[in-house]
Amino acid sequence: MRCIADTAPGATVFPLPSDRPPVTLRGFRPTDVPFISAIVADALHEHYDPSLYQSLGTEWPDGFLVAADPSDVPVGFLLGVSQVDREARILMFAVARGHRTAGIGTLLMTAFLDRCRARGYGRVTLEVRVSNATAIRFYTRFLYSVIDLLRAYYSDGENGYQMARELA
Ligand SMILES: CC(C)(COP(=O)(O)OP(=O)(O)OC[C@H]1O[C@@H](n2cnc3c(N)ncnc32)[C@H](O)[C@@H]1OP(=O)(O)O)[C@@H](O)C(=O)NCCC(=O)NCCS
Repeated sequence: MRCIADTAPGATVFPLPSDRPPVTLRGFRPTDVPFISAIVADALHEHYDPSLYQSLGTEWPDGFLVAADPSDVPVGFLLGVSQVDREARILMFAVARGHRTAGIGTLLMTAFLDRCRARGYGRVTLEVRVSNATAIRFYTRFLYSVIDLLRAYYSDGENGYQMARELA
């Protein structure tokens, strides 16, 4: 992964394919909430209290990565937490429609795994709808594999897969 410029501390600009503007990977800010809420509503069909994002990001701020466009508007994010010793769990991960298949998800996941390694985590887990073939393919490319079937895991009754990968 090649970065073209460093901006604010902890923020890095990444080029995308030539027809797409670059994105900046940075930490979460409270002003991101309306944009992230809109991505979550559209991509994950969930509506959370705005305070949830702030509170989930408190324990491990580096686990909450935001990909922002050149106007600093979030176009994707990954929110990870650590609830088990030496293990991270991805709670939410989405890229805004219209910004997908340009490599933003790959940037977010790669940076997140680097941060997990830096913390000495040995494993990352996540949950995904069994019908979400796009995400399952993406995670498989990142060496996650299905470790459990979670019956009626989602509020609409759909089953989920728990997926996990080990970290070297
Ligand atoms: C899953 C998700 C986050 C991936 O984000 P993304 O930005 O599209 O991810 P990328 O662009 O890095 O990769 C997506 C695919 O595009 C391909 N791709 C990336 N850059 C590309 C480019 N320049 N040209 C062609 N293909 C490209 C990747 O190889 C990848 O292929 P694969 O995963 O099918 O093997 C996104 O699809 C999404 O937000 N989905 C809705 C929410 C969701 O399902 N979240 C997960 C819930 S558990």
